[in-house]
Amino acid sequence: MKAVIITQPGPAEVLQIQEYTTPSPGAEEILIRVKAAGLNRADVSQRQGKYPAPKGTVQEIPGMEVAGIVEECGDQVTLWKKGDQVCALIAGGGYAEYVVVKEGQCLPVPVNFSFAQAASLPETVFTVWSNIFERGRLQAGETLLVHGGNSGIGITAIQLGKLFGAKVFVTVGSEEKGKLCTDLGADAFVNYKTEDFEQKLKEEGIDVILDMIGGDYFEKNINILQPEGRLVYINSVAGPQVPLDISKVMTKRLTVSGSTLRSREYSYKKALTAAIREKVWPLMDAGKFKPVIYKTFPLEQAAEAHRALEDGSHTGKIILVND
Ligand SMILES: NC(=O)c1ccc[n+]([C@@H]2O[C@H](COP(=O)([O-])OP(=O)(O)OC[C@H]3O[C@@H](n4cnc5c(N)ncnc54)[C@H](OP(=O)(O)O)[C@@H]3O)[C@@H](O)[C@H]2O)c1
Repeated sequence: MKAVIITQPGPAEVLQIQEYTTPSPGAEEILIRVKAAGLNRADVSQRQGKYPAPKGTVQEIPGMEVAGIVEECGDQVTLWKKGDQVCALIAGGGYAEYVVVKEGQCLPVPVNFSFAQAASLPETVFTVWSNIFERGRLQAGETLLVHGGNSGIGITAIQLGKLFGAKVFVTVGSEEKGKLCTDLGADAFVNYKTEDFEQKLKEEGIDVILDMIGGDYFEKNINILQPEGRLVYINSVAGPQVPLDISKVMTKRLTVSGSTLRSREYSYKKALTAAIREKVWPLMDAGKFKPVIYKTFPLEQAAEAHRALEDGSHTGKIILVND
């Protein structure tokens, strides 16, 4: 099969399309003919040699989410059959013509979604469901703040937050990106380049914050959370070391948490997939969620797609397609 290989750690041009052995499915796995693969920030870190795939995963082919057609099923597969259209969360190997994945990490391509649209979903929907709804326990009527509202994660967090009845605020780096977020349903945005989100949101009584920034956002987050608030981390691009005023955590009875999805065990991902299928997929099938695709590139142009992601001017997801 054709696959995009990280030939050595480095800039985008180290990604090269090469011949690679087509994988065979294990007992509980399916082989997917990949029609589309989503790009994620973590793929860039993996390419740079800073974020290896978990042990047991193909290391040299990036790609953590795909959509495609089931080509072959392992002996013990019960959920899928050859020809089914699926999308899947994977730990690596998605930038290729074929990939194997455990059957419990797959979901059907939602009704009326293209493969590119379906490939844009798994990484963000799984991360948002796990961190905002399970870990953060967001309830209808509560207020959610999402940092990086125009990121892949952000556009999913806004839409699911609204669909489940929350008031949603976001931080973004420009008015234009903010407008996209309000068009998707966000109630208001703060331009972090020109405004201080703590000052702007301190009267709002925030219940749940999803943060990928860390650094000096930590104290501001703690300050604007209302009693019983939950602060959930999925990254710390501005730095992981932060000052913590324990008295604020005690007096407001706050919960500070976080998680990483990629390295979690199969049993967890399988349970998460089942919860998402039950709670989120009916909304997808009903057309209530709008996938936001910034641009698609042919698999052969993976290096160019990475450059577009690193450029940072995108809003929404970048997808590799394989026709
Ligand atoms: N823990 C997990 O399991 C997990 C899973 C998936 C993703 N993640 C993390 O989630 C983050 C988003 O991933 P993605 O692929 O969706 O990323 P992405 O599309 O590349 O977006 C990165 C975002 O960060 C925003 N940003 C940068 N500096 C900011 C600041 N000071 N204040 C507010 N926003 C700021 C950017 O906003 P502007 O463009 O407006 O500057 C952009 O929206 C990444 O850090 C990724 O590593 C974690």
